Amino acid sequence: MKHLIDIKDLSIKEIDDMIKVAKDIITNEDKYSHKCDGKKLATLFFEPSTRTRLSFESAMLSLGGNVLGFSEASSSSVSKGETVSDTIRVVGCYSDIIAMRHPKEGAPLVASMKSSVPIINAGDGGHNHPTQTLTDLLTINIEKGRLDNLTIGLCGDLKFGRTVHSLITAMSRYKNIKFVLISPDELKLPEYVKKEVLEKNNIEYAETRNIEEYMSDLDILYMTRVQRERFFNEEDYIRLKDYYILNKKKLDKAKKDLCIMHPLPRVNEISTDIDDDERACYFKQANYGKYIRMALILKMLEVK
Ligand code: NCD
Repeated sequence: MKHLIDIKDLSIKEIDDMIKVAKDIITNEDKYSHKCDGKKLATLFFEPSTRTRLSFESAMLSLGGNVLGFSEASSSSVSKGETVSDTIRVVGCYSDIIAMRHPKEGAPLVASMKSSVPIINAGDGGHNHPTQTLTDLLTINIEKGRLDNLTIGLCGDLKFGRTVHSLITAMSRYKNIKFVLISPDELKLPEYVKKEVLEKNNIEYAETRNIEEYMSDLDILYMTRVQRERFFNEEDYIRLKDYYILNKKKLDKAKKDLCIMHPLPRVNEISTDIDDDERACYFKQANYGKYIRMALILKMLEVK
């Protein structure tokens, strides 16, 4: 049985196949509407979510399956002191596959060791978020027509942003990828990601505080929210939260075919007047999230 805890649990070939299926679902959704008849997805969300949980649930419903679960720890027996391992053992009796989000880094990995059904990491603390990365890869594939030969700017909270860590890990496996890491000093990409992913794979990258410095080089600009819930004190958050606000002026030198992405939720980091710019891809990206999750569920449940 296979779990999805880290994006590297999937080979490039498996990701390519899933992207193909997701694209086929986009054009022929009806063909898939009974593929998961009688199957159940449990969504166990110990942290807030809109897109990830609802797109997983919508994905399973669109495949003909059913969903159950909880959207906050306080409504489950965790509030009585139950461990993640015990919760998972039990939920495995009621479902065929589990998507789980947890504030503690590594919690889905621990869960997978005790689980009788496949576990999907739907975000673990400031660590990883592999299904957002699958969403991002489908978006890049559709919007840019390729996953190689790209210069990718990542901007905002690169320290706590789990979507950033997983996306860098995934993109580092494709040819001729360059990164521009744009953040304030306090929110730089963690050393372990630099060492174990970028440096180990000889990936070219630049670091800057200035969002405009490399703007004209970028094929993709991936904006992120400052992750308030991971800060130790509110003052630091308030000082950093509006460090970047992307507006039309800052895009002056950007390529005509730049793809602006954001995992969402947006707080203040992209001005709403960008929303109508044809380079804004973030709402399309949220839409693609459902289709790649349909492809992922089919794969993990081994549905033909
Ligand atoms: C992201 C997350 O939960 O890490 N949201 C999402 O899943 N689309 C990004 C964020 O919360 O900032």
